[in-house]
Amino acid sequence: MNRIPVIAIDGPSASGKGTVAERVARVLGFHYLDSGALYRLVALAALRAGADPEDEARVAELARALDVRFESGRIYLAGEDVTDAIRAEEVGVAASRVAALPAVREALLERQRRFRQAPGLVADGRDMGSVVFTDADLKVFLTASVEARAQRRYKQLMEKGIPASIHNLSRDLHERDARDAARAVAPLRQMPDARLLDTTDMGVDEAVNQVLAWYRDLKS
Ligand code: DC
Repeated sequence: MNRIPVIAIDGPSASGKGTVAERVARVLGFHYLDSGALYRLVALAALRAGADPEDEARVAELARALDVRFESGRIYLAGEDVTDAIRAEEVGVAASRVAALPAVREALLERQRRFRQAPGLVADGRDMGSVVFTDADLKVFLTASVEARAQRRYKQLMEKGIPASIHNLSRDLHERDARDAARAVAPLRQMPDARLLDTTDMGVDEAVNQVLAWYRDLKS
């Protein structure tokens, strides 16, 4: 069987892993999976259906039935462009709740694995290397200090004209890190076989180049 290569990039909220993963995928001509978007889509579907985000069986059913399409950088839910809607704060909060439900994670497993198509895949999330693609060719744990992540998110929000405070952003990131690391299923943590990429004092270009260098090293 022809094995399709995978680069798994996991890490905490606002670490910049999505930007790095997408750029690495573009350079290599690989497919890209933003697994966080799937949890956000399930959360949005639950909110719209009026489902309680803690109702595990119901939310898992919504996850299985999810009618989603990723096309030219846009995300469609039942034909509607929800690319911006899934980034809303309330959807993020609901996503972290539905992501803690084992039946929901199970329901999304096969869907995530179907993204593994030739010539290769770069996948980012929390459990890409530990659960979804355990045989990934390269596993990266991409992180940065809470302060650096709060600064990045602050800058992003300012650019969009959304008011924010560094203090509140830092506090929220602390809380979210604690929740993601403490949950019983697929908690966020660096696996022993993942390489640590701390981008606190690193720009995007440097982070992208490091991942590419590691990957090319493995393949040479
Ligand atoms: O990366 P993000 O902020 O878009 O992720 C949204 C939520 O989904 C976040 O609370 C963590 C969760 N998530 C997860 O549990 N497993 C993944 N592989 C990706 C995201």
